[in-house]
Amino acid sequence: MRVLTVGGGGREHAAVEAFHRSGAEIYAVMKNANPGIIKRSKGYKLTDEKNVQAVCEYAKECNIELAFVGPEAPLEVGLVDALEAIGIKCASPTKAAARIETSKTFMRELLKKHRIKGNLGFASFDNAKDTEAYIKTLKYDIVVKPVGLTGGKGVKVQGEHLHSHDDIMRYVHEIFDNNIGGAGVIIEEKAVGEEFTQMVFCDGTNIRPMPLVQDHKRAYEGDVGPNTGGMGSYSDADHLLPFVTGSERIEGHKIIQRIVNALRKDGCVYRGPMFGQFMLTTEGPKLIEINARFGDPEAMNVLPILRTSFTDVCLAMAAGTLKFDVEFEKKATVCKYVVPEGYGVKSKAGLPISVDEAGVKNSGAVAYFANVDIVDDKLVTGTSRSVGVVGIADGIEWAEGNCERALNYVKGDAIFVRHDIGKRELVQKRVDHMNKIRGGKK
Ligand code: AMP
Ligand code: GLY
Repeated sequence: MRVLTVGGGGREHAAVEAFHRSGAEIYAVMKNANPGIIKRSKGYKLTDEKNVQAVCEYAKECNIELAFVGPEAPLEVGLVDALEAIGIKCASPTKAAARIETSKTFMRELLKKHRIKGNLGFASFDNAKDTEAYIKTLKYDIVVKPVGLTGGKGVKVQGEHLHSHDDIMRYVHEIFDNNIGGAGVIIEEKAVGEEFTQMVFCDGTNIRPMPLVQDHKRAYEGDVGPNTGGMGSYSDADHLLPFVTGSERIEGHKIIQRIVNALRKDGCVYRGPMFGQFMLTTEGPKLIEINARFGDPEAMNVLPILRTSFTDVCLAMAAGTLKFDVEFEKKATVCKYVVPEGYGVKSKAGLPISVDEAGVKNSGAVAYFANVDIVDDKLVTGTSRSVGVVGIADGIEWAEGNCERALNYVKGDAIFVRHDIGKRELVQKRVDHMNKIRGGKK
């Protein structure tokens, strides 16, 4: 099977490894020279992933049978529609279906229209005056977001980043004045609880869940600092999380299944991996966002333990025939992203970084290259996350130990890691927080 992968990050490297394990012949398009992806590819092209024409030409040239698009930006410009128009099957959603991620208003309106549980109070605006008038009517804390895409970095939460009405309005003005996200402002009710990620494979109708994962958005240890694309994540051997019950997980599945049904009813069939970000509250899981793709880093937790052939799963998603079970090993994983110093504010990029892959492997871990590049035959950091290191073992604590051992084999001049991710203290803090808001009961 000749497969095209689009994207050059850690998520795409994890996908490429999974395609490789399941016997695919891989061709890749990416903007940076990711050495992990290059190693597994029969051919590759370095180009802007949003350059639809260039990607389609390369796909034709390579006689591609199946395409997989990792990041959201090429989905938003209709890469899947263009690939399908030239007869290539895609395990990723069309532009219309991807609006579930690319427009936060579209997502909230869809839930409202179809009366899907898990929605939050919201309203979107195209000017600051109306936004302010609305905020003044609210009795609850809010979250301010640009409606469009911002790479996971545009969200500000009252009580965390915004401490007064002035703070809120300053940020609202900043979004309008700089046209951040390009589509106005959405004000959402703030959900309080613990977050978890439920990803599923979807063929337009059927979903198959992946293990739950918890990401860490804040840049610094102790969950402080600016929001980032995600500094690291963990999953447990039973595919739940220590603070999520089986029935709460099923509630999350039901919400995602209803979203998939609603999209189909409204004429935009969704095929591909779907990512549900939930806040587990005292009233059950509330939807924070849906992404039209794998999460990054979350893909690095689940793909290395996928037992079923990834190529078969992608073919079935593309063809609408995902009727078989999708299995994962009963293993825990802890992923910590090595990022450039300053990431989240202003990255020190273009500096050397190296990975001793044998050392990583002997530590019981895998390393996925992300936003790195090859310049004058040397591996250097970009401005975004550099290398994801994933420890895999029978429990979170052991997986975390493996990850830490493996991190010694990643060397760089100006790199940074959130070492607290997956450590017993931080996981326990999540459990205690959830127990506290549940009133002492699990
Ligand atoms: P997003 O990019 O939409 O995932 O938002 C980034 C982060 O902001 C989330 O992971 C949450 O921690 C927080 N967040 C976003 N929306 C809400 C909300 N409605 N209530 C509480 N926290 C939120
Ligand atoms: N880790 C969150 C995301 O991929 O958007």
